Amino acid sequence: MTDTKDDNDNNHSTIQTVPVALGDRSYEILVGTGLLDVIGEHITPFLKQPRVFIVTEKTVFQHQGNRLKTALENANITAHWFTLEAGEATKSFDQYHSLACDLLGAGIERSDIILAFGGGVIGDLAGFAASSLLRGINFIQIPTTLLSQVDSSVGGKTGINTPFGKNLIGAFYQPKRVIIDTTTLNTLPLRELQAGYAEVVKYGLIDDPDFFTWLEENCDAVMAEKQGHNSSQLRIEAITHCCRAKARIVAADEREKGQRALLNLGHTFGHALEAECGYDGTILHGEAVAIGMIQALETSVRLGAANMKNRDRVIKHFKKIGMKTSAAEVDKPLNADALLQHMFKDKKVEAGEIGFILGDIGAASMQRGVNLDIIRSVLHDSIHAPR
Ligand SMILES: NC(=O)c1ccc[n+]([C@@H]2O[C@H](COP(=O)([O-])OP(=O)(O)OC[C@H]3O[C@@H](n4cnc5c(N)ncnc54)[C@H](O)[C@@H]3O)[C@@H](O)[C@H]2O)c1
Ligand SMILES: [Zn+2]
Repeated sequence: MTDTKDDNDNNHSTIQTVPVALGDRSYEILVGTGLLDVIGEHITPFLKQPRVFIVTEKTVFQHQGNRLKTALENANITAHWFTLEAGEATKSFDQYHSLACDLLGAGIERSDIILAFGGGVIGDLAGFAASSLLRGINFIQIPTTLLSQVDSSVGGKTGINTPFGKNLIGAFYQPKRVIIDTTTLNTLPLRELQAGYAEVVKYGLIDDPDFFTWLEENCDAVMAEKQGHNSSQLRIEAITHCCRAKARIVAADEREKGQRALLNLGHTFGHALEAECGYDGTILHGEAVAIGMIQALETSVRLGAANMKNRDRVIKHFKKIGMKTSAAEVDKPLNADALLQHMFKDKKVEAGEIGFILGDIGAASMQRGVNLDIIRSVLHDSIHAPR
């Protein structure tokens, strides 16, 4: 990995390409700065006619919409815009239905292309619309949050929420390309950037201890709010590394029969926290995952499967970034039994047993039959940790 001096020249970067190998559904992820401004170059190979159907939301449009609009005009590509409300509530059946009708009403054809322009909410919803309309329309992901750049835009999971839980209606449907312009993150609120960073660290903790060490050394640049040339190169490098890791896992296990489940590190604990908070913005997904990864490490320490020093390294790292590391920092009264109850509703429960992803830094594996008294005490201690 590189380490060059910062010269504040943010305009030029080489484009990193990450292949996702899935037979005839293989595609490429492009990572770089300024890709949005020359989007025509990167989407034209997929257009049968010079027009696109863009699904986005109001906040993304406000901050980044003009760049995409101008780039499409420059490339003489006609754009049909579908701009929804920002926020998780948009991933609903009602919004899906109205988007589907609007796309059909605008005359979308099977050979057209949908651009999913936004964070994970838009990627999941637009991807699901693409998978189901006219029995499948091609789509391209243009993710604009750190979380969506390193996680949700890659791998083909699409879907919407239901009153019974998140992401319960959906499809595996791969995009034709993922175009990651890291400069879109320049307008992302810091809290969202930090939340997305939890998913970056996750790749190190799963099976890549060297990447975690690299992050310890380079996180200041990767997370710097004002990006110069050096920091933007390091940010590209970190994001590309995550995409490669996810691409490798997805290529080996597209439909989550085994290895892909490791991507849920910190998520069994994290989803319980999110569910208990009622998805009301008290806690963001990535924040819950960060706390969940610390709880998973603590469980591993108590089971003799992780080193206490390593747990403390990860806590120190998250604190340096300004992230939460315990349930005590969540602004909501919590109790261990209620959190445990949520875990039994997890998709990874099999025959009533919760599957926990545990292990030391870089050595995660799925464990079943974990003593629930240990989990309960880890949750209790996290809720009552000194702040
Ligand atoms: N499909 C998958 O594999 C997968 C994986 C992980 C998460 N997800 C899903 O992703 C969703 C969360 O994604 P997210 O964190 O990107 O949420 P999001 O799409 O709601 O974006 C987070 C916030 O950032 C704003 N935003 C987005 N881009 C911006 C930009 N460039 N500048 C300024 N503001 C910007 C949005 O308006 C929103 O307020 C959840 O629904 C989750 O279920 C899916
Ligand atoms: Zn996640």
